[in-house]
Amino acid sequence: MAHIGLVGIGVMGREFALNLAEKGHTVSLLDRSLEKSTEVVTAGAALKGTLIACADAESFVSGMAAPRSVLVLVPSGGPLDSVIDSLSPLLDKGDLIADLGNSYYKDTERRVGDCEAKGLLFLGMGISGGAEGARHGPSIMAGGSQESWARVKGPLQDAAAKFEGDPCCDWFGPGGSGHFIKMLHNGIEYADMQMIAEAYGVMRDGWGMGAGAIGDVFAGWMDGPLNSYLVEIAAEVCRADDPQTGKPMLDMILDRAGQKGTGRWSVIEALHLGAPASMMQAAVEARNISADLEGRVAGAALFGAVARADAGAQGAGIKALEGAMIAAKTCAYTQGFEVLRRASDAFDWSLDLAAIARVWRAGCIIRSVLLDDISEAFEQDGTRRLSHAPKFTALMQANAGALQTVVAQAVASGLETPALYAALSYHNASRTEGSTANMIQGLRDRFGAHTFERVDGLGEKVNGPWHD
Ligand code: 6PG
Repeated sequence: MAHIGLVGIGVMGREFALNLAEKGHTVSLLDRSLEKSTEVVTAGAALKGTLIACADAESFVSGMAAPRSVLVLVPSGGPLDSVIDSLSPLLDKGDLIADLGNSYYKDTERRVGDCEAKGLLFLGMGISGGAEGARHGPSIMAGGSQESWARVKGPLQDAAAKFEGDPCCDWFGPGGSGHFIKMLHNGIEYADMQMIAEAYGVMRDGWGMGAGAIGDVFAGWMDGPLNSYLVEIAAEVCRADDPQTGKPMLDMILDRAGQKGTGRWSVIEALHLGAPASMMQAAVEARNISADLEGRVAGAALFGAVARADAGAQGAGIKALEGAMIAAKTCAYTQGFEVLRRASDAFDWSLDLAAIARVWRAGCIIRSVLLDDISEAFEQDGTRRLSHAPKFTALMQANAGALQTVVAQAVASGLETPALYAALSYHNASRTEGSTANMIQGLRDRFGAHTFERVDGLGEKVNGPWHD
């Protein structure tokens, strides 16, 4: 008899069921289509564990031994709520529902409360790695009660990706903390992808390079600090040919980016928390502008297309571009972890930043060699901003100049590099002792008597001479 059930046999659910069965677990399956569950049972027939297809919610629940743990992999929002509503009356007190979707963390908090009121346990878990990860080892970020976590920790850590033997699957705190961490993972994912797209744009539009040659540059970056899953697949995407036309596949892909909302949520939450997240914001806005293809075409007709540099002149050069990416990536991680720190303080979650970096070292979309260094940096001192940890300070010192050069040349050449620019601006603002916010304070006080502190009287709120 199974203790674990899985609801939702879409692409992710199917692969995760096979993964659990491969690790020897017995899993009951439920989907609106019995055919889909039956197909997974057939696909997993040779695996160590057992998969059981259930025709309806009643047989699904009665076929599992209590205490039951039901993993739900359906689209977040309405579909998830209907699964919870239909299963809750059938489950016994103490049974657990775990949501493995990309849910908004405040919805998770509500679901934890609703389920607890019914005597059920609820876990909100972010899972990253796409279909491949679900099958061979995703990265998993759990939030909820420790009692709930203890229930599913074993099977989930079995199924998770491993980094040098350590499972990339952990519990981080109560309520919606797991989904908040996954949301921020996606925010960093957006920034990472935007930086890659901008580097591609510099090479394509600034330097006149073809997709294959750009792919070779990305592949070359795998030998340094930029070694990451996204850079690896960027090389693959650049090098692929379109089977229909024989042209580079990338040249045949319409430049209109989609999004499901987790990047936007990250930016909104960061704004609420007062934590800078300019690189994620640049990435979300770049997608928004890309989506308005008609507006861009109309703009080009009115204003003329942006003047580009002479293609072929390599400007700052590939080494500088790599340096710029290293500096910008350091800024993106610094911002991302600072948002997590603010959330931890604001919501009293006691998040362990080193542990978060550890579960991102393998299995997830933003996995990169830098994440091992990040976990080490936070293990040494969890209170320090990432760019102030010696390894990352050195990376910034060595590469900030390249970031400035690349951004300056991009601007001079009419190339759009909003995330790289946001990184440079953040870095510069974050190392400025004498900022211009004294002018903001002066204006606020002049029009609204909002008061300010004097440089020679810290802590004391005073008004300026413009008030009698
Ligand atoms: C992951 C991905 C995954 C999904 C994103 C894509 O970690 O496996 O982040 O969750 O691909 O939701 O988001 P967009 O559609 O918004 O780009």
